[in-house]
Amino acid sequence: MHNGKRVSRSPRFWAPFEQGALEVPTSMLVIRPADAQGLEGLGEVTLEQGFFPVHAILKNAGYTVTPRAEGRFDMVLVNLTRSKAENLCNIARACAMSQGMVLVNGAKTDGIESLLKAVRKLVPVEVVSKAHGKVFWLEAAPMPDAWLAAGAMVPNKAGLLSAPGMFSYEKVDAGSAMLAPYLSGLKGCVADLGAGWGWLAAQALGPDVAKIVLFEAEHNALEAARLNLTDERVAFVWSDVLNIGKTEPFDVVISNPPFHQGRVAQPEIGAGFIRSAAHILTPKGRLLMVANRQLPYERVLDTHFRKVTMLEQNSGFKLFEASLPKR
Ligand SMILES: C[S@@+](CC[C@H](N)C(=O)[O-])C[C@H]1O[C@@H](n2cnc3c(N)ncnc32)[C@H](O)[C@@H]1O
Repeated sequence: MHNGKRVSRSPRFWAPFEQGALEVPTSMLVIRPADAQGLEGLGEVTLEQGFFPVHAILKNAGYTVTPRAEGRFDMVLVNLTRSKAENLCNIARACAMSQGMVLVNGAKTDGIESLLKAVRKLVPVEVVSKAHGKVFWLEAAPMPDAWLAAGAMVPNKAGLLSAPGMFSYEKVDAGSAMLAPYLSGLKGCVADLGAGWGWLAAQALGPDVAKIVLFEAEHNALEAARLNLTDERVAFVWSDVLNIGKTEPFDVVISNPPFHQGRVAQPEIGAGFIRSAAHILTPKGRLLMVANRQLPYERVLDTHFRKVTMLEQNSGFKLFEASLPKR
């Protein structure tokens, strides 16, 4: 009990099962689960999660996980992400893959209200409000083609392929654009940590680069990068940069590190990227990175590199060159 109210410990998506409105099906697909909470009671589940760190946790917990699901399931549960276009696309995909019900689960901050309105215009929907959000469900029915198309990869303003949900998917990020002039003339083996759909790596791919490896956690973004960079010197690694493990040594690391996980600012992710950069560089290697101006990366750079120079700054970003990694 909390403030005199009963507090349910089960995740929001359990509400329709707990209320007896739905029965747990034999086979279920869960799109974009954030963690394993509540999944154990669902019977035979397949999980779709393309974000490597979460994918790895779910896989290690013994679940069947794929970055992109296909096939038919008795029920499909869609967990919302921050991208409305990706959510519309996932609801349309869920309707195509379910031979029964489709559940949609999200917080108010994920835009669940506007998706509920949009679906309600097309088909009957039932809904439960819980924990600053809602779960609604509908009988699987064909959704508008435009919803499916909303999540597709298309050429963006930079002329490269990207899709909603990817970082800065419509145009080149201002921070990356600021770093780009410092990437001409790179030599040897280069790593791009958090490579997204590949624009920054494409700028670094000059004639003296022997190899460039793109490390990226979002499967879909890496797939776009694969289509965008077809040079045979380019390699792609779907991985968690914070747990990069053993790699070949790199002469240069370039990065525009993430500083958000969901909606929460987490500068320690960027700090982890700096640690990993120091770990994979040769003793004479250097890191070229761009960071949002307000993020306090100077200390962590000094901790992991002998020489740190601020190359440039403006009202939004700082550019750093850090060399001679400390072992
Ligand atoms: C700020 S974006 C930069 C993308 C791209 N380099 C650019 O300049 O447009 C950071 C990228 O890091 C990826 N990312 C986030 N967490 C990650 C992790 N733990 N491991 C690897 N990549 C990660 C995000 O998916 C995103 O594509």
